[in-house]
Amino acid sequence: MTRFADKAVAVTGGASGIGEATVRRFIEEGARVAFADRDADRGNRVASELEAQGAVAHFVEADMGKEADATGFIEAAVARFGRLDVLVNNAGIRKYQPVTKASKESWDEMLAVNLLSYAICARAAIPVMAAGGGGAIVNVASIRSLIAGSECVQYDTTKAAVLGLTRSMARDHAAQGVRVNAVGPGPIFTPFHARRAETLGQTQESYIEEFGAETMLKRPGTAREIANGIAFLASDEASYITGTCLFIDGGQTAL
Ligand code: NAI
Repeated sequence: MTRFADKAVAVTGGASGIGEATVRRFIEEGARVAFADRDADRGNRVASELEAQGAVAHFVEADMGKEADATGFIEAAVARFGRLDVLVNNAGIRKYQPVTKASKESWDEMLAVNLLSYAICARAAIPVMAAGGGGAIVNVASIRSLIAGSECVQYDTTKAAVLGLTRSMARDHAAQGVRVNAVGPGPIFTPFHARRAETLGQTQESYIEEFGAETMLKRPGTAREIANGIAFLASDEASYITGTCLFIDGGQTAL
């Protein structure tokens, strides 16, 4: 499939996990992709590998927790491609603590990265998309937008808010030809969870086994399975879909 031939795509948090799989998915289908990450080593490595294969993969080192970096990333993508068709807001962090232990500073950081960066990137992207005849935004939410994790209050709050942001932006910018949707991944074994297994002193094998146990399909998903859903929502095949969230979770939220 080449649903994105010559389209210009921007992905935040694109150096690893779901973001990296998304960068690769769009490139496979002919897109030119700019991606931002705070991990410059990994971002440069992914970009070099893709460019060596003839792809257009433009890496921008940026901290999505900073307004100037988030705006600067979209400006850099537009400067490189002259247009913007798709924005994937994916960068996200987790903190594990109950509300009684959560400092104001940790709330500020969680909100800045997981929520405000999505709004700030959209603010910069929407006028450019509208000027080019329309576009699509896909926000990465979570099953935690709907169901509570243990000591995940900050994460769960930001991910619930991503659904509100998605609906409201979809309504306000439909007339400009901009569709806005979210995906809600279930358990996906990414580098984040590899680090988490290490912190908990668990082997990857035992972590993975427990990780997918609460899904109907009894396994974790892959980053590629999320990227497939993101690409679908960004494509013209989803032309009548806006303001909603596609849960890609092996059935976990339906249980
Ligand atoms: P990951 O940790 O493997 O990848 C996240 C990427 O974002 C990393 O490359 C990281 O360097 C980058 N990033 C983090 N903070 C950043 C910042 N301030 N500025 C720039 N880049 C930053 O994580 P994963 O699992 O791929 O998560 C991606 C998204 O998917 C997140 O929004 C996460 O909440 C969401 N998600 C993941 C699930 C999972 O099970 N893996 C489940 C549901 C949602």
